Amino acid sequence: MKESAVTDHPASLEGKTVIMTGAGSGIGRAGALALARAGAHVLGVGRRGDALRDTAAQHPGIAVLTADITADGAPRKVVEAAVERWGRLDVLVNNAGATAMMPLAETDARRIADLLALNVTAPSLLAHAALPHLTASRGTIVNISSVFGHRPLPGAAHYAASKAALEQLTRSWALELAADGIRVNALAPGPTESQALHASGLPHAVVEEIKRDEADRIPLGRRGTPEEVAAWILHLADPAATWITGQVITVDGGLELV
Ligand SMILES: NC(=O)c1ccc[n+]([C@@H]2O[C@H](COP(=O)([O-])OP(=O)(O)OC[C@H]3O[C@@H](n4cnc5c(N)ncnc54)[C@H](OP(=O)(O)O)[C@@H]3O)[C@@H](O)[C@H]2O)c1
Repeated sequence: MKESAVTDHPASLEGKTVIMTGAGSGIGRAGALALARAGAHVLGVGRRGDALRDTAAQHPGIAVLTADITADGAPRKVVEAAVERWGRLDVLVNNAGATAMMPLAETDARRIADLLALNVTAPSLLAHAALPHLTASRGTIVNISSVFGHRPLPGAAHYAASKAALEQLTRSWALELAADGIRVNALAPGPTESQALHASGLPHAVVEEIKRDEADRIPLGRRGTPEEVAAWILHLADPAATWITGQVITVDGGLELV
């Protein structure tokens, strides 16, 4: 008997259906493309229709749904849209998320609530809505955390805490859902080229300085690309990855080690 199904062939998601939140940019766009190229039908979700359409234009396997996943009832509508379109759901990628610079001295209740609504509550409600369909397909959930889900991040403690929460949801759901054959894993990227830092509202010059500092601290000497993270989303989503659940895989050029 062969020892590894994973190394024998490239990932095939032929006939599988995927929901990718945050598919209009960065890691989500690269992930949607990687999954579609592996044969999946992908529903890309986000608030900006034009950005989603740019993603969909790059592969016919990608359809889009414009939605704010923190809105009341949105997680259920997202899941229903995928199931109505393709009749099944195999993979939920909880990728949409935001970074928030929030030193303790500037912390306020509204910003904490907004951050947790996007980074913790929305992925939870999406997973909840997806559960019956993932049970039927013996599917899988991939949560996109961050290396700062398990490292401290001064000045952005609530971002780090929100990703730590996502990592604990990953482990707990993995155990809770193992008997149903549903695998749950997380990816923890290090600093990756995307719109995330710009979206945090910092001035351009500050963003560029942060990027330079990050690259200097990363043992492999540079920030990652969305494609390098997407490759691992594909590995975790691959139905051939039958023996991995409850893991947080850090993809960060070695940053975790220093
Ligand atoms: N880039 C990094 O260095 C890095 C490192 C570690 C972890 N991560 C994580 O990786 C994930 C992807 O981030 P990224 O780096 O690719 O950044 P990004 O380009 O800013 O992507 C975030 C995506 O989330 C979507 N989104 C935000 N709020 C939403 C909402 N309320 N409803 C629906 N969609 C929403 C955005 O689309 P719309 O604006 O159109 O809604 C956007 O496409 C995030 O969870 C982030 O925390 C990133």
